[in-house]
Amino acid sequence: MLSVAYSAATLGADGYEVTVECSARRGLPSFEIVGLPDAAIRESEKRIFTGSEESGYPIPSAEISVNLAPADKKKEGTAVELAVLVAVYACCGFIGANTEDMSFIGEISFSGEVRPVRGALGMTLAAIQSGRTEIFVPAGNLREASVACREGVNVYGVDCIRSLVEHLEGKTLLSPAGGNPYDRLAEYVSSDDFSQVKGQYRAKRAMVTAAAGGHNILLIGPPGSGKSMLAKRLPTILPRMSYEEALDATKIWSCAGMLDEDIPFVLTRPFRSPHHSLSTAALVGGGKVPMPGEISLAHNGVLFLDEFPEFKKDALEALRQPIEDKQVTITRAAGRVTYPSSFMMVCAMNPCRCGYYGSRTGKCTCKPADIRAYLAKVSGPMLDRIDIQVEMPELNFAELSDERPAESSASVRERVEAARELSRERFRAAGFSDWSSRSNALMQTEELRLFCSLDEECRRVMEGVFERTNLSARAYDRILRVARTLADLEAAESGQREIDGMIGGPLKKRHVTEAAQMRALDRKYW
Ligand SMILES: Nc1ncnc2c1ncn2[C@@H]1O[C@H](COP(=O)(O)OP(=O)(O)OP(=O)(O)O)[C@@H](O)[C@H]1O
Ligand SMILES: [Mg+2]
Ligand SMILES: [Zn+2]
Repeated sequence: MLSVAYSAATLGADGYEVTVECSARRGLPSFEIVGLPDAAIRESEKRIFTGSEESGYPIPSAEISVNLAPADKKKEGTAVELAVLVAVYACCGFIGANTEDMSFIGEISFSGEVRPVRGALGMTLAAIQSGRTEIFVPAGNLREASVACREGVNVYGVDCIRSLVEHLEGKTLLSPAGGNPYDRLAEYVSSDDFSQVKGQYRAKRAMVTAAAGGHNILLIGPPGSGKSMLAKRLPTILPRMSYEEALDATKIWSCAGMLDEDIPFVLTRPFRSPHHSLSTAALVGGGKVPMPGEISLAHNGVLFLDEFPEFKKDALEALRQPIEDKQVTITRAAGRVTYPSSFMMVCAMNPCRCGYYGSRTGKCTCKPADIRAYLAKVSGPMLDRIDIQVEMPELNFAELSDERPAESSASVRERVEAARELSRERFRAAGFSDWSSRSNALMQTEELRLFCSLDEECRRVMEGVFERTNLSARAYDRILRVARTLADLEAAESGQREIDGMIGGPLKKRHVTEAAQMRALDRKYW
């Protein structure tokens, strides 16, 4: 007899379908699986065997062999075990149901339970994509997997082998998840709000600009000036996540086994704040079975690097490529996996070891050479990847005691979304096929030429900056990008979509001047 059942495995954040073929012949009792890597096979065989026995549905004595396809992909997980068992049962005539439309995802325990697996969401999506309409996942993964629910697809949670067999036999039916819970949960609001940050007008303006253009930003200031507080509120002013963005982020968190049990979805833009002592592997991803790192957990959200100069040199080095590529490839003996890593980077630092260099309190006790050495830990190439820098001085009493309400996150977010919309439209009108995922921060030479041409007045401003500061070519481009975003914000606020034939309007002197100021710290500190 021959039988087939479908399952799934993960490669990076995404799942793919696995086909399980089983054949059974009369002969010496044996059980063999091919197509799984090394040690995992023996453990899986043992679990399937013992688990089925404990459930009261033991595998009959026969010469059984199981093949997992595709053979060329390493199947790291144990999520195929449930499908293996179903194929074996079908092959031996235990279950008569047609399983063509079904996919079985789950690990089996010695006692016959079906245990949760990592990456369940990505696998469920892959199964649906392959045309399966009845998806069986471990009960512990049901809430997570049900975000993939759509018309015509049922997702079931299975807690043990017995209940699956009884369902397939039509004896006791499992009930499918009740639709996609995403819409209900998307209402979630954070208690952090932009309005809670007092004073710091320049820093807030810089943060709004960063959010509107997707620019990386560096905050410099003494202890207690609100750097962490402001950074933490960035997700509240970024555009709301779309369903697709939430799904992509959730897939990654699912692979890392990091989803919350009660709300197993990444509903708001992630905010990751890894400690500077973190290993490079934990930051960018790695491990024996390659796991997503902090930069992938921050996908579609914010990566906050507090105490920036304290991060290890090789960790920062490893960040550089993913920042440009928006994804990270981890190479291991077992193969390569790629995880998405499209995040906004916010870095915060004190200007010296004691924290008070340049502060108006004059408390700094550091020697000039020590200050230089401290700042030098932030390398040129790293600074090059940060479009905006801003100082956050200590608040004075008037600012701290100011009770007037500041602009709320909801209101800032509206402006940010409107500005982003303008920039996307501009990319689309210019014929960029990936316009929907574009932001001003990603503009390269070609786009800068198209969208950031300077009139005579702007040119004079740039010339002045150039002469005063010995501007590098890269710094020049950064100023243009930020100026573009400032113009977009202005156009969005005034409700003017197109000015002088340019969506978002042409760059003006005021945009270029302000953008240059958001880059002025290079000169002061480095
Ligand atoms: N601008 C501000 N508005 C309101 N509260 C503030 C502001 N700045 C600081 N605070 C208060 O001070 C606390 C400490 O601020 P925060 O942790 O953001 O400082 P920091 O700049 O990150 O300092 P450090 O350099 O020590 O990390 C905040 O939790 C908040 O209560
Ligand atoms: Mg802090
Ligand atoms: Zn100091």
